[in-house]
Amino acid sequence: MSDRIFVTGAAGHLGQLVIKHLLARGVVHSRIVAGTRSPDKLKDLAAAGIEVRKADFEDQGGLARAFEGVGTVLIISTDALDEAGTRLKQHRNAVSSALAAGVQRLAYTSLPNPSSSLLTFAPDHLETERTIEATGLQYVFFRNGWYQENLLLSLPNAVKSGHWHTAARGGKTSYVAREDIAEAIAAALAMPTPDSRKYTFTGPEALSNEQIADLVRQATGRPIAVVHVTDEEFATGLKAAGLPDVFVSVLVSAEGEVRAGNLSVVTDHLQLLIERAPKRLADYLEEAKSAYAV
Ligand SMILES: NC(=O)c1ccc[n+]([C@@H]2O[C@H](COP(=O)([O-])OP(=O)(O)OC[C@H]3O[C@@H](n4cnc5c(N)ncnc54)[C@H](OP(=O)(O)O)[C@@H]3O)[C@@H](O)[C@H]2O)c1
Repeated sequence: MSDRIFVTGAAGHLGQLVIKHLLARGVVHSRIVAGTRSPDKLKDLAAAGIEVRKADFEDQGGLARAFEGVGTVLIISTDALDEAGTRLKQHRNAVSSALAAGVQRLAYTSLPNPSSSLLTFAPDHLETERTIEATGLQYVFFRNGWYQENLLLSLPNAVKSGHWHTAARGGKTSYVAREDIAEAIAAALAMPTPDSRKYTFTGPEALSNEQIADLVRQATGRPIAVVHVTDEEFATGLKAAGLPDVFVSVLVSAEGEVRAGNLSVVTDHLQLLIERAPKRLADYLEEAKSAYAV
């Protein structure tokens, strides 16, 4: 089996961090291939000796050529949420192209418990996992919990207004640092794995919005009152803020997911791979306060 590792979505936040951590783990430059729709964005990687190839999941012919000569492909799930079906079609293109190119191991970034998730986009992940399993190739699924960075969507307004609207009804979330996920993915990809694996990556503790508001107060001195609303009221607020309907649906489903406790699972999978404790939300909120306490 070729020991070359192809990282798709290499210009995205997670893709860049996975490559950084592959290098930090001693994976030599010549073993890494960075795939992206925009090779121009990765000139620094190319200059450092990493092969950069164009890889757009919308271009199946080009993809099969891009995957030639590599043993492992990490398929980073795309951000195409605006039209139902697009993302799954893209992921299936990536899987069939990898198969056609003779790749031996497929890795994929999914979400915790995709079969019971209430998130609008969970079926994309579930069906992509099933498509990968059906290839018969060795696979690694990285079921990633909610990024700590996602809080930058709601906290700036909450800190500014002093009110944080939620329909999660006290449900808890085990927020996880995106960079910890990237490091754990790199660790898993860097080692030869005899078996297929499903990892669920979470932060070290599950916290309610009230607990998070308290951490924000400790980090910034700014109090936030958590205001409990219904899904309908939550959706009305998002629409009034100008969010497109598709993203309103995604965010309302995320509140339901938290309310149901589906994002509160805590595992040790990440810690075992990176051999240290994952970043606590309190530390993230302290570090990132200039980005949300505006
Ligand atoms: N767990 C969570 O809380 C959470 C939060 C946000 C997103 N996500 C998921 O995790 C993924 C990675 O997160 P991120 O923070 O790196 O997101 P990001 O910075 O927004 O990156 C989006 C990614 O989608 C890729 N992409 C979009 N269209 C594509 C196409 N046609 N073909 C191939 N790749 C395509 C981009 O690749 P290039 O630009 O390099 O082509 C890029 O890697 C996201 O795309 C999303 O599926 C998870």
